[in-house]
Formats: sequence, C-alpha cells, structure tokens
Amino acid sequence: MNAAVFTSSALSLPISFCKTRSSQVTRKKGEFRVFAVFGEDSGLVEKKNQWGHLFDVEDPRSKTPPPPYKGKGKFMDVNQALEVARLDIQYLDWRARQDLLTIMLLHDKVVDVLNPLAREYKSIGTVKKELAGLQEELAKAHQQPYSPHLKNFWYPVAFTADLKHDTMVPIDCFEQPWVIFRGEDGKPGCVRNTCAHRACPLDLGSVNNGRIQCPYHGWEYSTDGKCTKMPSTKLLNVKIKSIPCLEQDGMVWVWPGDEPPSPTLPSLQPPSGFVIHAELVMDLPVEHGLLLDNLLDLAHAPFTHTSTFAKGWSVPSLVKFLTPSSGLQGYWDPYPIDMEFKPPCIVLSTIGISKPGKLEGKSTEQCATHLHQLHVCLPSSRNKTRLLYRMSLDFAPILKNLPFMEHLWRHFAEQVLNEDLRLVLGQQERMLNGANIWNLPVAYDKLGVRYRLWRNAVDRGDDKLPFSG
Ligand code: FES
Ligand SMILES: [Fe+2]
Repeated sequence: MNAAVFTSSALSLPISFCKTRSSQVTRKKGEFRVFAVFGEDSGLVEKKNQWGHLFDVEDPRSKTPPPPYKGKGKFMDVNQALEVARLDIQYLDWRARQDLLTIMLLHDKVVDVLNPLAREYKSIGTVKKELAGLQEELAKAHQQPYSPHLKNFWYPVAFTADLKHDTMVPIDCFEQPWVIFRGEDGKPGCVRNTCAHRACPLDLGSVNNGRIQCPYHGWEYSTDGKCTKMPSTKLLNVKIKSIPCLEQDGMVWVWPGDEPPSPTLPSLQPPSGFVIHAELVMDLPVEHGLLLDNLLDLAHAPFTHTSTFAKGWSVPSLVKFLTPSSGLQGYWDPYPIDMEFKPPCIVLSTIGISKPGKLEGKSTEQCATHLHQLHVCLPSSRNKTRLLYRMSLDFAPILKNLPFMEHLWRHFAEQVLNEDLRLVLGQQERMLNGANIWNLPVAYDKLGVRYRLWRNAVDRGDDKLPFSG
C-alpha cells in the first residue's frame, strides 16, 4: 500500500489520485485528453518556462516514504502522523500546481485553435462571393472532360469536297485543335493544330506539296506529324501528334480515341435515287448531345418551326416514334418521316413530301418525292458542336445546277436551326446550373432516350452497348 492511500484513509483527506506522472494528465471519457503535451509543442514549453518558478516543484511522492506502518489495529505516533500530514499537504500543493499548469496549457491550445478562425471571420458579402464561386465550380463540374470511351469511334469531321490538295480544314474535336490536309499521296491526314516550335496555329500557314507549313518560322510537317523542314537551323527529330484519318462516302473521318481504330465505318450515303444538293458546315454554340436530342425529336416541330418547314402544321393528338425494341431507327407516326441515330453522333432522316407544308397522313413510302438529310454533330468542345449537314433529293435534279441554290439551302437550314438554337441554348444554360434536361420523358421522346441510354453505356465503358444489334 503506498503512502497516499495510507494517509487518505488514516487522516480522511479527500485524496484519491491516480498514477499520474508530470508528463501525463488523464481525463474522463469525452473530456479534453492531454497526453505528453509538455515538450511536444515548442509554444507550450515556452509557456511553461515563463511560469517555471511556479511549477518547478518536486513531486513529493519521490521523497522518502513515511516509516512503514505494520499490522492491523496499530496506530502512528504523533511524529509519524505529522510527517504524513506534511507530505500530504506537499502533495496537494504540487497537485494544484500541476492542475493549474494543465489548465493554462489547455487554454493556450484553445487560443491556438480559435485564433485562425477569428482571423478568417468572413463578412456576409465575402460568403456570398464564395458561394457564387462555388456555383461556378458546379457549372464547371458539368463541363467535365468527355469520357475517353466516347472518343473510340470514327467521327466524320469534314466533307471531302472542302479539302482540296492545297487547302486545310481546322477542327476542334473533344476540346483539342486539329488540322486536316492532304499529303503528297492525296490522302488526308490529321495533325495537332499547334506548331512544335512555339505553338503557333498551323492552319494560319499553308499547305505545299503535301506538307503543312507554320507561318511563324516555316517549319513543315507531313500528315503523320513529322517535322520535315526547319529553315535556318539544323533539322531536329520532332513530331506533333497525329490521329488516324481516312476518307469514305464523301467525308473525312478521324479516330480521336486511344484504342486501335475499328476497321469498319458506318455508311452515310443517301439511298439510291437521291442526289446530293447541299453540304453545309456550321459551328454551333451548344453541346453536341443537346443538339442530337433536338434532332432526334420531331414532336417539337409544330411548336418550334412555325416560321419554316412546320408552318401551318396542326398539332396531332398523339405523336409516336415506332421502332423495334432493340433499334435506333424507326418512323414518326403520323408524319411521313423515317429517322435513324447512327452512333456516335449521326442522324439520318428521310422525309416524304406529298404537298408542300402537308406532311401528315401518309407513310414515307406512300409519298412520291423525298428529302434525305444527314446531320453529323461532332463534339468540338463542351459547349460547341461542328455540324455537318448534307441534304439530298430524289426529285428535281436540275436544282443542283442552279448556281444560287447552295446559298438558298444554307439560308433555309440556318433559319430552321435558329428556331431550335434559341431553345437549346436556354436548355444548356439551365443544364449548366444543375437542371436535368431529361426530367420527364414521354412517349415521343423514345429515340432521344435511347440515344441517352446508349451514350450513358459508352460513358461508363460498358462492353456491350445497348441497341447495337
Ligand atoms: S512557331 Fe512554328 S515555326 Fe516557329
Ligand atoms: Fe427542330
């Protein structure tokens, strides 16, 4: 039995101390716990040093214990009792100092924690500004880079007719600038539109003998991205990035993904009997998925296109897109319009024309004349689409030879697109602020929803894609 227990029982002093060392103070569960604080933190040690004379008191328990008390029923003499009482008083004094030191150290800890908080006190205005910043971050979160899986497809990026032997076509594709030009063999190539020397855009230069020349210091590159000429200095081994590029069905295609390119490309030729009358390219300020949603929807026509092709249309009591359960193609009831979504970003449609302005009531086959449309929505960036539009007719081939027709078709196409764009831009703004643009799909949204199911599966990197046959 140690001395303290002895005295507390003998003198009835209210002492019940635990095994406490000068470097350790314990507390009940839930309270501050301070272990080995002395010396852990230089600030705390300094604090102790300032008041050192108060706390530099020796632990009385280290002193010689009182003479042993032996046997039950025996009593201490007066001197023994006084000695024990003196040691107890010394212990209480030492203990009180230690408690005070602990309190001071805890106080310092609290001040240390609270001071930075106090310094960072923010006004309501500052908090509001920060919230606005967070809102911006939220908007940016909606502009996350595209899923890399979406890049592993062939994308049409230009019409063949727009790529002459000495011209080039700059494009943005998945947020990256590229430039397409023809090599010495006449085949198209696609290289990064940024000079390896000092990042000048190459499309500001020229194409000569199958090589693109930077307008700044004249470095030249072949279609595989290799630098073949560096005027006025020694030629270094330099290459800019190039991606697979080929030509099919009157279009130039690129493969922007990391996986090996697929050996097959979808066919985009108009059906037999059709003649191409217009090929237009437009850069639009909307995300390509939103534009596809719009193109895959016909139910909006009598409400949106009231100044153009749907002028005077009545609103049907029911609009449906009829399609096999596994398909991305079908026809619009009650309109004589067939439509197909071709992955990754293409819409084909054939419109039966019986009389101008009267589309209802007949299937596509029952109509004598037709208009065929190809829409390619290339993802340029999160808020930009490069739209390639090709229009073919199975009647009036003579129109193709009229010199002003290309301008007229462009005018019509732009008018129709503008009717859509103001709505889609509004959707985009809300989407960027967190709105769900597919909040409540109904029956006529079938094809758009299927596109989104397909796109979600691609974004996730699913091995088997829906509606892929
Ligand atoms: S920046 Fe292109 S050659 Fe210098
Ligand atoms: Fe539209």
